Amino acid sequence: ETIQRLDYTVPSFLVDHIDLTFDLAPSATSVSATTRFKHNPASDSREIVLNGQDLELVKIVMNGRTLEKPDYALDHGELRIPNAPDDVTLVIDTLVRPDKNTSLMGLYISNGNFFTQCEAEGFRKITYYPDRPDVMASYTVTLFADKKKYPVLLSNGNLVDQGDLPKGRHFAKWEDPFKKPSYLFALVAGNLVCQEETFRLADGRDVLLQVWVEDGNLDKTPHAMESLKHSIAWDESRFGLELDLDRFMIVAVSDFNMGAMENKGLNIFNTRYVLANPRIATDQDYANIESVVGHEYFHNWTGDRVTCRDWFQLSLKEGLTVFRDQEFSADRTGSDSGRAVKRIEDVRTLRQVQFPEDAGPMAHPVRPDSYQEINNFYTVTIYEKGAEVVRMYQTLLGRDGFKKGMDLYFKRHDGNAVTCADFLAAMADANGRDLSQFELWYSQAGTPRVKLESDYDSLNRTLSLTLSQSCPPTPGQTEKKPFLIPIAIGLLDAHGKEIPVRVKGSDNASDTCVLELTQEKQTFTLVDVPEKPVISALRNFSAPVILEFEQTDEELLHLLANDTDSFNRWEAGQRLAMRRLLELTHAVRENRPLTLDKPFIDAFRTVLTNTSLDPALRELALTLPSETIIAEKMDEIDPRAIHTARQFMRKTLANALEKEWQKAYKNNLTDGEYRPIPQDAGKRALKNLALSYLLLCDSTDTCHMAIDQYRQANNMTDRLAALTSLVHSGCMQKLPEVKELLEHFYKEYENEPLVIDKWFSLQSTSPTTSIESIRELMEHPAFTFRNPNRARSLIFGFCHNNMAQFHAEDGSGYEFWAKYLLELDRINPQVAARLARCMDQYKRYVPSLRQPAERALKQVSKQELSRDTREIINKTLSA
Ligand code: ARG
Ligand code: ZN
Repeated sequence: ETIQRLDYTVPSFLVDHIDLTFDLAPSATSVSATTRFKHNPASDSREIVLNGQDLELVKIVMNGRTLEKPDYALDHGELRIPNAPDDVTLVIDTLVRPDKNTSLMGLYISNGNFFTQCEAEGFRKITYYPDRPDVMASYTVTLFADKKKYPVLLSNGNLVDQGDLPKGRHFAKWEDPFKKPSYLFALVAGNLVCQEETFRLADGRDVLLQVWVEDGNLDKTPHAMESLKHSIAWDESRFGLELDLDRFMIVAVSDFNMGAMENKGLNIFNTRYVLANPRIATDQDYANIESVVGHEYFHNWTGDRVTCRDWFQLSLKEGLTVFRDQEFSADRTGSDSGRAVKRIEDVRTLRQVQFPEDAGPMAHPVRPDSYQEINNFYTVTIYEKGAEVVRMYQTLLGRDGFKKGMDLYFKRHDGNAVTCADFLAAMADANGRDLSQFELWYSQAGTPRVKLESDYDSLNRTLSLTLSQSCPPTPGQTEKKPFLIPIAIGLLDAHGKEIPVRVKGSDNASDTCVLELTQEKQTFTLVDVPEKPVISALRNFSAPVILEFEQTDEELLHLLANDTDSFNRWEAGQRLAMRRLLELTHAVRENRPLTLDKPFIDAFRTVLTNTSLDPALRELALTLPSETIIAEKMDEIDPRAIHTARQFMRKTLANALEKEWQKAYKNNLTDGEYRPIPQDAGKRALKNLALSYLLLCDSTDTCHMAIDQYRQANNMTDRLAALTSLVHSGCMQKLPEVKELLEHFYKEYENEPLVIDKWFSLQSTSPTTSIESIRELMEHPAFTFRNPNRARSLIFGFCHNNMAQFHAEDGSGYEFWAKYLLELDRINPQVAARLARCMDQYKRYVPSLRQPAERALKQVSKQELSRDTREIINKTLSA
């Protein structure tokens, strides 16, 4: 049941070519695969092992001879042919039923069109094949279909032939010259239209770029096309990596389990990461689209050309590609403050989702040691922590050193399926460094804690920094060895000016110095320090650790006001707020009066009114740590106390700074035509944050301000922000107009599924939405379990992002979760298993919630479950 990383064995047979023919029909698609196998000299086995799932086997022919059992054996999803000769050509005919495929893995139908999703193990739902990433082959694919219903026929690589056939049918033949594993196979067939363009590469070659969508959506493709062109240009200039095909296609599909997929030359996307125009998409959507288009495009080199040997190496491509898309988005902002904004957002996600994962029942190393269902390991640890691990190479080796490592990685491994260790070796060898200790970032789970203690010696003008590290136990790993941790340090003097940092014994001084912590405890001495400085530690979040460093309010205020490292400036504000939020949460629990001190309010005022600071950065600084991030800091989680404490702080800041919020609102209006550029988006973010605070003030005319903003908005960002704040603040209860706006919004965007998703989630995440209202929304004609985006917008919105209501004392939220988890599991295990993870932290809940949570979990556990959901539930209960 459990697959172990160390059980890896090389494939017994390799494939050099596969020729696939599809005759596409919803209720019976026939698939004929002709595959050329060669015995792998590195293997002792003579058995051909093919994976298959939900297939009807029609015929299997080996080297011209039809096989009958016991020429082959078929069990547990494996077809085995013993004693095979060196060279084998297999012809396998199978039948599949796309119309019955609700898992959205393999070949399925969305709005009448055919799509595939093969990563990680979906190809086995198409034909019998060695469905593992270390078997790489060239592909020829011929698609046959009814021409009227399916005028567009796409697959990987280059179109080499097409034509009409009798009886209204037609065909298209595609050839992918690059060897690839089966998980990168894709086909699309249906009634689609495209925006296309030729684009000139740096080397002068012209390539064809296409963005395919359903009819009626061509007004929503330009941003994705622009994003694609920027991605191509960025990979050329930053890493010298060029597009290797003559044609590159993006296809949008409404029903999709994840964000998008990097199939060679034929990227398939969830519509939410493609479709945008000012009417339907927010600034955040625009930014997400650019980043996901970049991500999938960058996979062409880090994923497709060089892929993973096995799925334990998933972060080899995902961590690296997330790092690349983060850098792309940062560069695209075109400014230092834009880069800082991006960095803060990324770290916020890491803390909000990955830190809890690392501290919970599903904690696993960036390179896991075992899994039951690989789909459960497309996690924030693999993706976001993996990206932090890649970023640390760049922090340790410098940008040039990192680039050298990348060059060597491609030189050594282009066209191969490799491991995380191979990546590390390329980085180490290209820079002549021993990075063996760095390997622990791949093998040890858990978030390291780093403690910093400082001691200033005014006589010798030295500052000694003592760093010590530890890492809490995680499932299966009790003892941890010390990591190699880069800690970026800066020093500020009393006037807020940088003091150059020089480590004793070294000649160079710099404003920021990267200390390399390698031992459990280590002291670094900084020299020429003229006064007792304020320390700015872990600048730009130089390592994915929890820093324990006691600093006074005065020191944090000094950093908030002066640090040249924008990340740490933001961090100082968050720490000031967190201190108070934790204290307030305790006060709520102990029924003590709640108060907020003046110095803190003044600090917030200073940030809010500091017009020399980028509005986007101000918005981040003025947004309080989320409920989840507060929970992460508590041994015992009382979700509703956290909510009450945070609401109190927001309301207090709203009233105390009402005039300043008003001013910020007026000063950050973006008049004129909507532009999704960072400067304008930052202003809108600050303005809409101001609005959300203003709606918490005791005066009611601000509700009307929000209503006006809704009515006058020329873009979705402002419209959605107004409506969300109105609903979340409780204005809806006070003013009947708000209910009307909510209905107006629905009617206005009835034909825009992505906007209807927003309509559901703005309600499901509202602290003012009761579970009864959620149940009513479940009955809404627009709600369906079959579309993952829709299921997420309502059910996940409530269970994952509505702390106040989901954790109702009577357990009704958990019962709701259990009921719909089971329903969803029968339709789409992959999406259900994500919902199962709402309960990750239940063992840390206060006793009054732990009990009903456990009851719900046990009730689910008694039922028949998919492998996906079973793994999560068992691990949650047994941790
Ligand atoms: N490789 C894709 C990406 O990160 C994700 C695909 C995940 N799909 C899945 N069924 N687990 O871009
Ligand atoms: Zn990816």
